[in-house]
Amino acid sequence: MAMHAESDPIRSRLDLQPAGSPELWPSIEWFASDDESIVLARNGRDPGHGVDAIGTGPATITTLLSVQRWQPRWIVSAGTAGGFNARGGHVGQVIVADGPVIHHDRRIPLPGFDQLARGGHPSADLRDVATRLGFVSGPCSTGDSLDAPPADIEAMAAHGTLAKDMEAAAVAGVADRLGVRFTACKVITDIVDGEIATAEEFRANLATASAVLADAVPALLADLPA
Ligand code: ADE
Repeated sequence: MAMHAESDPIRSRLDLQPAGSPELWPSIEWFASDDESIVLARNGRDPGHGVDAIGTGPATITTLLSVQRWQPRWIVSAGTAGGFNARGGHVGQVIVADGPVIHHDRRIPLPGFDQLARGGHPSADLRDVATRLGFVSGPCSTGDSLDAPPADIEAMAAHGTLAKDMEAAAVAGVADRLGVRFTACKVITDIVDGEIATAEEFRANLATASAVLADAVPALLADLPA
């Protein structure tokens, strides 16, 4: 997970206790359940800037070092995301990843490198689980900006993106390379194609969406195939 505001409610809901940090990158924080069956890995604060280290770079490092330490059976990229009016999105909606997760903001029009840029790493098929829990399953995509210039909007429309976040594709890339099953669980804080400025809508809804996430993630974890 990326943000304190998103992860603190889950930490308390699951009673996850501090479980150390990687020696090499001590700003990453781990929190574990008593039996260590659940570990929350948080990117932590960027030491230079003093804010939560959001985005794909930190997500890659956190995922790699966390797999090395904990050797998980599943990786879940959990957090908030932007949704889309055009595709039925609304604030508070819970999205579980379905299909490949792409980087919608990386463009390299050279053979082979175009696909490298896109990512497109798989997510597990959890459509039945999502339906049972009352969540929506659908395409997720990732970019390193909170806003969305026209080229990104086009890429997300072509992908059918339901959840636009800043980490999932990076986490999925590491999971794919290391052979760990992956999913994403995202709660919508703002509507990308809506009327309200994204940063304003995100700030207004972050706390309530994070409370929804604190219900959704434990329910999803309890229902993941063994
Ligand atoms: N997280 C929450 N809302 C987002 C958005 N609109 N874009 C990227 N990440 C987000």
